[in-house]
Amino acid sequence: MNRRNFLRTIGGTGLVLAATAGGLSQCDQMPTEAIQGWNGPVNSITDREWLLSYALLAPNPHNMQAWIADLRVEDQIILFADKDRLLPDTDPFSRQVMIGQGTFLELLSIAASARGYQANVHLFPEGTPDEMELDISTVPIARIELVKNENIAADPLFSAILHRRSNKEGYRELALSEDHKAELLKLPLSGDHSVQIYHDKDEVEELRTFAKQAMLLEIETPRTLKESVDRTRIGADAIVKYRDGIDLNGPMFWWLSRFDLMSKEKAMTPGTLAYQGGIDYALGWVNKTYSMGILSSPTNSREDQIIAGRNYVRLNLLATSIGVAMHPVSQILQEYPEMQTLQSDFYSHLGVRAPETIQMFFRIGYQSKPSPSPRRPLQDIVRA
Ligand SMILES: Cc1cc2nc3c(=O)[nH]c(=O)nc-3n(C[C@H](O)[C@H](O)[C@H](O)COP(=O)(O)O)c2cc1C
Repeated sequence: MNRRNFLRTIGGTGLVLAATAGGLSQCDQMPTEAIQGWNGPVNSITDREWLLSYALLAPNPHNMQAWIADLRVEDQIILFADKDRLLPDTDPFSRQVMIGQGTFLELLSIAASARGYQANVHLFPEGTPDEMELDISTVPIARIELVKNENIAADPLFSAILHRRSNKEGYRELALSEDHKAELLKLPLSGDHSVQIYHDKDEVEELRTFAKQAMLLEIETPRTLKESVDRTRIGADAIVKYRDGIDLNGPMFWWLSRFDLMSKEKAMTPGTLAYQGGIDYALGWVNKTYSMGILSSPTNSREDQIIAGRNYVRLNLLATSIGVAMHPVSQILQEYPEMQTLQSDFYSHLGVRAPETIQMFFRIGYQSKPSPSPRRPLQDIVRA
């Protein structure tokens, strides 16, 4: 994870020196159990557990992993959104959480193909949640019927699942190559969705200015900032305890916490080290973004949101397999009132008109693979 800007902010305090002194550079490493899922499951577990072990590596908003997999009916998985893991302030209609259900369903289906199953996904079997509701947990998102099929070909994107990342680092100073762009744009997308990739210097400059303004607006709006602060896990102890959220670890964060400089109150208070460091951290990527893209859908139905998740993660897997990094920057797409003016400017700028909806806005480029983000143990999402 990129901490360079955070380091710059606190550089004058002497804390960085303190943090790296005395052999402490090894302290507060990412706890191995929090990222153990990225080694892949052992083959001896049951088929449904094996598939779910891959599905829970899906990209999802704020890494809240809002999934519940009900296994009480044999040969099926009933997927629910987890009501306790929604994002009411930044995602008031659970559009993003719904996209995160789609990424989960796609990885599940890809893994099924690698284990000799056809996964038949029946969306919203008990009715579709209203598009203006936050709570999408009251009815199942999907019933997945697993049908054994020894002749099914494993999806070639399967091999990229364990290597996929949302790469939040600054990228190397290179626009996406024409070849890579062409290869990514060739990916078949479901549901008449479309992907645009921008790599013209001036165009990218404008887009990242939009992304930056939206991020600052989110930070300057106390309740949306609080939603992130509440979900930030600082240091190995918190990371291993929660195994979700925005994870920050390493000697510097350990020392800042030791000196009580990283409390939630401080992170919410303009003028403190934690607040300014948070801004610098959140915007660390801005000047190191050389290509950006959008994924849009013809309407904003719940089905479209699921399909957007499925398409997005396929794009992310394909990018992974050809050495291209991706990172969603979603603030400008969020539906809370304060964001609406900036969002309409963004839509006008891109010539996108409702009901067409931009479901994902992302950075794309080149950077080496960062360490993976935590995941909860499988049993935490399973109801058996
Ligand atoms: C709908 C959606 C929106 C996201 N928005 C953001 C974002 O605005 N900023 C960000 O850093 N990551 C964003 N992400 C990426 C998640 O933070 C990331 O998937 C999660 O932390 C897990 O990390 P991983 O993708 O590397 O496994 C988003 C992911 C999804 C599916």
